Amino acid sequence: MIQKNKILNGIDVSKIMIKKIKNSIINETGSGKRFPSLAMIWINNNESSKLYVKKKNIACQDVGISTKEWIFDNSVQEKKIIELIKTLNNDEKIDGILIQLPLPNHINPNNIFKTIHPKKDVDGFHPYNIGCLCQKTPKLRPCTSKGIITLLNQYKIRMQGLHATIIGASNIVGRPMALELLFAGCTITITHRFTKNIKKHTKKSDIIIIGIGKPNFLNDQDVKSGSIIIDVGINKLPKEKKIYGDVNFKSVFPKVSYITPVPGGVGPMTVATLLENTLEAYQNKHQY
Ligand code: GUN
Repeated sequence: MIQKNKILNGIDVSKIMIKKIKNSIINETGSGKRFPSLAMIWINNNESSKLYVKKKNIACQDVGISTKEWIFDNSVQEKKIIELIKTLNNDEKIDGILIQLPLPNHINPNNIFKTIHPKKDVDGFHPYNIGCLCQKTPKLRPCTSKGIITLLNQYKIRMQGLHATIIGASNIVGRPMALELLFAGCTITITHRFTKNIKKHTKKSDIIIIGIGKPNFLNDQDVKSGSIIIDVGINKLPKEKKIYGDVNFKSVFPKVSYITPVPGGVGPMTVATLLENTLEAYQNKHQY
């Protein structure tokens, strides 16, 4: 039997979030307070960065967050970005700082993340913010994993006691996702490139989160009946315009209880969560 709301619709849920954020910004600025602002730093030779920054810009404008961009060539030195971040940290009119990834190989992203003031760290990648999530006192949280939790909550999916397997242990998705699901009361398995038999784990899991850039990695025989599948993959096939996830959607769909589509699942939630985090940074609720 196919359930009515089997598809976890990130577009619909992000629209609900955007409406709320927009209203909060109207309320905050009604008495003459300045609008929230986001600084975006990115490297101009990367086509996907260009596309994502454009999307983030449009979304910011829609809700009333002002944006300012700094665009660098691939040859930019780490020192130059660090100096810019330090200036932005001290700029009272800047609420959030975002460094669009990937960065050129000669730049260590960890040096960049730790320079951003934790209060302005709307990507949630600063060791302080990751540490807070780890210790069950979350502050600014990484957007993709936080967005996934918001999506699951919106569909009233109870996570407590479920077994979740995460495929991919990146600093951006896999690791923060593990912390989020642990915080939500799941039992976690994190698999990665050295894991011997990933599918042995997925077959037993109530929730699977995958983001490894391998189209059709998971098929119906790899998942448990009634499981929840979150596909973070974004894959472009040669000569095709369409984007594919890491899951063979058609194959697993009849078997699962919930699944995110690609596109229209996790992607819009990540962008809406960035807006949410920027508003949070603007409201400056946290003590550091
Ligand atoms: N590149 C891919 N995902 C992300 C993300 O969540 N934040 C930033 N800044 N860059 C990314």
